[in-house]
Amino acid sequence: MPSWRAPGPRPHGPAPDSEKNKKSPIAAGPKAVEQGKKVARVNCASCHGNSGKGNGPAAMALNPKPADWTAKKVQDETDGEIFWKITTGRGAMPSWKHLPENDRWALVQYVRSLKK
Ligand code: HEC
Repeated sequence: MPSWRAPGPRPHGPAPDSEKNKKSPIAAGPKAVEQGKKVARVNCASCHGNSGKGNGPAAMALNPKPADWTAKKVQDETDGEIFWKITTGRGAMPSWKHLPENDRWALVQYVRSLKK
């Protein structure tokens, strides 16, 4: 079992190389972005905020803070890396692997749409 699957604190490190190059199985475009936005409003906005800037109502109590999806740091990652981080969870962020895979890729598309 790879160490990042182990129970206990969620990882902080980079995504494994095998995950970085994963390509989204869903087509990019307004439909995917809209789907991702809906899923994000329900599941992510409490921490990441309605516009993804990491300033949701629950963010105050967290350190490190929820990621700003519009930031270069996030946008510089590959789709596979972002997908892996959502799926695995990170620090204070829980894993989202219970969300349908399709919704997780739609979240990646939505995050991409926020690039400044
Ligand atoms: C309980 C609050 C919380 C919720 C809810 C939450 N996140 Fe997070 N998220 C965080 C925190 C905190 C971090 C930073 C973790 C760290 O680096 O320690 C983070 C980091 C991330 C990152 C990593 C950015 C990077 O490049 O390192 C992504 C992507 C992300 N969240 C996406 C999502 C998505 C998509 C959802 C909804 C399905 C979501 N998050 C829901 C708190 C949350």
